[in-house]
Amino acid sequence: MAISAVVHGPLLTLVVIVSRFGAGVVGLRMDYYFMTCPAVDQVIKNTVFNALQADPTLAAGLVRMHFHDCFIEGCDASVLIDSTKDNTAEKDSPANLSLRGYEIIDDAKQQLEAQCPGVVSCADIVAMAARDAVFFSGGPFYEIPKGRKDGRRSKIMDTINLPSPAFNASQLIRTFGLHGFTAQEMVVLSGAHTLGVARCSSFKQRLSNFDSTHNVDPSIDSNFVKTLAGTCSKGDNAEQPFDMTRNDFDNAYFNALLNRAGVLTSDQTLLTSTATRGVVNAYAMNQAMFFLDFQRAMVKMGTLDVKEGVQGEIRSDCRRINN
Ligand code: HEM
Ligand SMILES: *[C@@H]1O[C@H](CO)[C@@H](O)[C@H](O)[C@H]1NC(C)=O
Ligand SMILES: *[C@@H]1O[C@H](CO)[C@@H](O)[C@H](O)[C@H]1NC(C)=O
Repeated sequence: MAISAVVHGPLLTLVVIVSRFGAGVVGLRMDYYFMTCPAVDQVIKNTVFNALQADPTLAAGLVRMHFHDCFIEGCDASVLIDSTKDNTAEKDSPANLSLRGYEIIDDAKQQLEAQCPGVVSCADIVAMAARDAVFFSGGPFYEIPKGRKDGRRSKIMDTINLPSPAFNASQLIRTFGLHGFTAQEMVVLSGAHTLGVARCSSFKQRLSNFDSTHNVDPSIDSNFVKTLAGTCSKGDNAEQPFDMTRNDFDNAYFNALLNRAGVLTSDQTLLTSTATRGVVNAYAMNQAMFFLDFQRAMVKMGTLDVKEGVQGEIRSDCRRINN
């Protein structure tokens, strides 16, 4: 993926993205809504801010929603579509793994439809809401180019493309590589697990019958095994925070990995594997470096297989494709 930026002045930055897989050139711009819906950033910021004031745990939901959206069918809001009698959507996959925050997107969309009907895509709202969730949780602020169109496909079977929490580092590197990411970018994006929780069902395979030679995953700290087991004693849906500060965007996640207290196999493997260990050590030591690399990788993730022009539409209701 090649990104070249041409600066036209203080406000207008034109970003041209040449998709590695797409048929042509996708044009996203920082100032995409400058003439057609100038309040877009403010509306989404306020909506996300108010929602997080009421429930700070929703920041994690918004960030994860953007990831799932982009990894399936490109960043096209396919993740928001409700199932219908003829179609079981992505949302209803077991791999939807408890996505949260749909109401925040609906709320922002309703306000934007009132101000500038038919202009702002749901895909852009998801991308901007994730950006604001990172910032309001104490993470970096980054600008993103806009102009994504909403897709018309959302199928449960597509969720097979999401990485499994049981993946090891080489499997993660390969999966992210298919989307054009380096191993380092995969590690920095995993740093999003500085926010939120995993449910027992996502890690219990580490606690018994782990493999042919170990009952318990040997990469977990022995005290942390007790913590995870304690969580699982409350059932499959019991929640385990990824780090000590589940609502703060910081580098505590990487320090948890150094303490062998990563929650998922796909977390702890980043330290175990020599291919990624150096990056984990660097982010654990240097939060500013984590923040800088994270924003770059999020901007890149937000351009995955983006639809433009007639490839997509502006949905009027984020949960339904237009008739
Ligand atoms: C590296 C591969 C990844 C795997 C295998 C993975 C897997 C998972 C799993 C299994 C959960 C817990 C779901 C549950 O039990 O309810 C989770 C949560 C989460 N993931 Fe990932 N993830 C990955 C990468 C990412 C990326 C790239 C992002 C965003 C940039 C992200 C953001 C999140 C967030 C914020 C949560 C917490 C959600 C909440 O508390 O509601 N993940 N992830
Ligand atoms: C996730 O999928 C399950 C079925 O596996 C479904 O019951 C649940 O409603 C879905 N969650 C969301 C938020 O759509
Ligand atoms: C990662 O998992 C794959 C598939 O199970 C396996 O072939 C490979 O040997 C594993 N790599 C490491 C380093 O454990």
